[in-house]
Amino acid sequence: MDKLKIGVIGLGIGKTHIRGYREHPQAEVVAIADLNANRVEEVGREYNIKRRYTSAEELLGQDDLDIVSICTPNKFHMQQSVTALGRGMHVLCEKPIGMNADEARQMIEASRSCDRRLMINFSYRFNPQAIALKKRVDDGALGGVYFARTVWHRRRGVPGFGGWFGRKSLSGGGALIDLGVHRLDMALWLMDFPEPEWVIANTWDALTAPVAEQIEKTFDVEDFAAATIRFNNGTMLTVEISWAANIEHYELMETRLYGTHGGLVHRNIPDKYEYEAELFFEQDGDQYDQKLSSTPDDVKSSMYYFVESIIENKETPAPAEEALQVQKLLDAIYLSAEKGEPVRVS
Ligand SMILES: NC(=O)c1ccc[n+]([C@@H]2O[C@H](COP(=O)([O-])OP(=O)(O)OC[C@H]3O[C@@H](n4cnc5c(N)ncnc54)[C@H](O)[C@@H]3O)[C@@H](O)[C@H]2O)c1
Repeated sequence: MDKLKIGVIGLGIGKTHIRGYREHPQAEVVAIADLNANRVEEVGREYNIKRRYTSAEELLGQDDLDIVSICTPNKFHMQQSVTALGRGMHVLCEKPIGMNADEARQMIEASRSCDRRLMINFSYRFNPQAIALKKRVDDGALGGVYFARTVWHRRRGVPGFGGWFGRKSLSGGGALIDLGVHRLDMALWLMDFPEPEWVIANTWDALTAPVAEQIEKTFDVEDFAAATIRFNNGTMLTVEISWAANIEHYELMETRLYGTHGGLVHRNIPDKYEYEAELFFEQDGDQYDQKLSSTPDDVKSSMYYFVESIIENKETPAPAEEALQVQKLLDAIYLSAEKGEPVRVS
């Protein structure tokens, strides 16, 4: 079988995609694109990729590509994905799926009508500790889950004043749509995507607004968001996300599920991009903590699994329909914050 030919658009996190595809023997990144010509040349040389373009449109005009990774700022996800799907390419799009749920729906519609796959890069699903926990939850280790909490806080970790992350017109929002999308997905994925009913939320820019004003940079998104979500089965989830907060840790991620038979936590080792997983339960009147000390060591990149799902004609491990569920909650959180009242999720 010929190798699947892949294009990558946007060469920030896009470099991780290039490396991720290299894990699969049936995949080859043959084309890259970025508006920044120096970056295209640099990455092309580094990874020995010959076809180098300085616009997404040029790459999307190539008719021999099987897959394209969309790794551009959020504003461009929908249009570039829809164009790629329409030209017969399967799409691995970075998170968030789009700027809002309407865009997500248009992308899903294009994927269905063109019969091409659309996966969203919820990369934390491919974390070995998360995979181990998901298996235990699916095997019933927690019993009935009735409450969950998901958190990603940074003490000071705003991704660049003056860049696209801080401009709502390019990003769709701040810390919530950037970091929160991962932690929200992690909680919902472990909970098996219950149907949300109500959201009450607020957002703040208390720490970033004064800095942006002082250095005269555009920054019109939140640095902190908090929400409570109620699902139609009575389960609740609380969400806390920040790029900047006055706490002791520089980077703190934690997702907890509380169940009738057991509870779990997936978290980072404070300040590091290393993770641990633990289960808590009771047996014969005693309380046990069960820490995961070995995790699957054969976990591959999300790009590997995307290629595998195409070759084997099976569901992708992070389908766009699930990303739409996440996006609907992001929209509801922003709407509740704006209106100052609870909102129904539609
Ligand atoms: N899955 C993850 O963990 C993860 C991590 C980081 C970023 N992301 C997502 O990846 C996307 C990109 O983020 P980033 O951190 O790489 O940003 P970045 O700013 O570092 O890189 C984006 C690149 O895209 C290029 N670009 C901008 N507009 C373009 C266009 N219209 N056509 C072609 N190229 C264009 C820029 O020149 C830049 O090189 C975002 O959606 C972000 O949310 C995901």
